[in-house]
Amino acid sequence: MINSTIRFLLNNQVVTLENIDPNLTVLQYLREIQFNTGTKEGCASGDCGACTVVVAELDRENNDQLYYKSINSCITFVGSLHGKQLITVENLKEKTKLHHVQQTLVDNHGSQCGFCTPGFVMSSFALHKHNKTPTRPQVLEALGGNLCRCTGYRSIIEAAITTSVDVDDDSFSQHYQTTLATLTELQKLPAPTLTGNSHHFIAPKNIDELVYELAQEPKPILVAGGTDLALSVTQNLATIDKLVYIGNVKELTNIEQTDTEIVIGSALPYSQFIDVLHHYYPDLGEMIERIGSKQVRNTGTLGGNIGNASPIGDMPPALIALGATMTLHVNGVERTILVEDYFVDYKKTVLKPSEFIKSIQIPKPTANQTLKLYKISKRFDDDISAVLAAFFIEQDSDKKIINVRLAFGGMAAIPKRASAAEAVLQGNTFTKESVVKAKLALATDFQPMSDVRASDKYRMTVAQNLIEKCYLELQCHVIETRVVNYA
Ligand SMILES: Cc1cc2nc3c(=O)[nH]c(=O)nc-3n(C[C@H](O)[C@H](O)[C@H](O)COP(=O)(O)OP(=O)(O)OC[C@H]3O[C@@H](n4cnc5c(N)ncnc54)[C@H](O)[C@@H]3O)c2cc1C
Ligand code: FES
Ligand code: FES
Repeated sequence: MINSTIRFLLNNQVVTLENIDPNLTVLQYLREIQFNTGTKEGCASGDCGACTVVVAELDRENNDQLYYKSINSCITFVGSLHGKQLITVENLKEKTKLHHVQQTLVDNHGSQCGFCTPGFVMSSFALHKHNKTPTRPQVLEALGGNLCRCTGYRSIIEAAITTSVDVDDDSFSQHYQTTLATLTELQKLPAPTLTGNSHHFIAPKNIDELVYELAQEPKPILVAGGTDLALSVTQNLATIDKLVYIGNVKELTNIEQTDTEIVIGSALPYSQFIDVLHHYYPDLGEMIERIGSKQVRNTGTLGGNIGNASPIGDMPPALIALGATMTLHVNGVERTILVEDYFVDYKKTVLKPSEFIKSIQIPKPTANQTLKLYKISKRFDDDISAVLAAFFIEQDSDKKIINVRLAFGGMAAIPKRASAAEAVLQGNTFTKESVVKAKLALATDFQPMSDVRASDKYRMTVAQNLIEKCYLELQCHVIETRVVNYA
């Protein structure tokens, strides 16, 4: 069954969209169709946060609760709003009374020209909806995707830390049950579609509907968070004829655990699985916190990160080092392969026509297994890696390395293991001498390229030094080797 409209709550009003080009972003919809120009456009590529809005949706685990998240409206396709509430800056204040989040920003002198202010307000609003007394690191995490060119961050951060706890008595809390009931009804509608300018969007609700759509000609393009794909529209000015949105497919938005592995649905956003991975692999949790910004992690997915097949995607090297597997699905038939075997050449993968990534299986650690991860980028937050190193090391009781996988991103056309360096370490103890040999062997594993992010020489030197850093960290856990307080 198909529903030929998109329906969502714009603040507290149900809106129905039809006859609108599905290549339209939420930002364009707000500014050019609704004339809600409070939401600003800065970069149109997810980098500045000026366009931040908040989306409330039914909580994945407790359908009787709302989950509020900040997103970049400039890289979100409008069709993905179906069944959700879109909250914009215009709607925060009640009559003449500013929302607590806004008032505290004013009280702290957190705005000068005001261009970035709506974005900061919305990021802070989303944070306070979940966390009444956020700590400074939590505030930094929530605001890491918002740039301000004139006020300076101190007063903005102070405002977010000191926002009073009664954010809970705002109009959104007062309308909570009505919003919940409306979204529940909208979610019961059949799979929504949108057609405009001869372009099509469809949001299947389960795998059978997805498989059906993928079998049609012309072949559609899959979109999950859109944080990679939407850039082709906003930056390269491409148009996409047919989009199939997988963020509503229930089998792809699950997370499950067995005794031995964590199974993550390909369309589940990072924010919804980061805690589980952090629990088992602290380095991985810390690294995911540096993928894009909070807004990007609230929509971006593991399936999109792997599916994009970028040589500088952050998750593939980590997954390869962990020996993770992925399940691919085509027309009712599934196969499970190592993530390592997915990548063939630059942007080439083993994915067949109509096939999609269903889930990613990550083994849980056993005793004496360690994962060390290093993301090298010019900025700490919201930056693409020049090099990503992921080292999985298993040692026996004599500290002999019995299992090693060293995987790198940014060093070749695909994320790849360093087999020569691994061979040096396998079966030996980690010593200064074996580190020197592994570093030399690494030079035979890769011939990195130079680009705007880093030169070939820098990439090789930093990759070699990361093996040494890993050695030092494993030798002595008390030496501080990482930046832990950066603001
Ligand atoms: C400001 C900004 C910062 C970023 N920072 C980082 C960063 O630090 N590290 C990093 O690694 N990435 C970063 N990215 C890139 C991006 O956010 C990630 O790659 C993200 O994981 C993509 O997921 P998505 O769901 O948004 O993918 P989408 O854009 O929806 O899809 C990406 C591609 O994968 C395909 N695809 C999606 N799902 C599937 C599936 N289930 N099966 C098969 N194919 C699929 C799509 O067709 C598309 O070709 C950043 C992006 C932005 C805009
Ligand atoms: S306009 Fe810069 S993140 Fe959207
Ligand atoms: S107040 Fe001017 S950009 Fe932030």
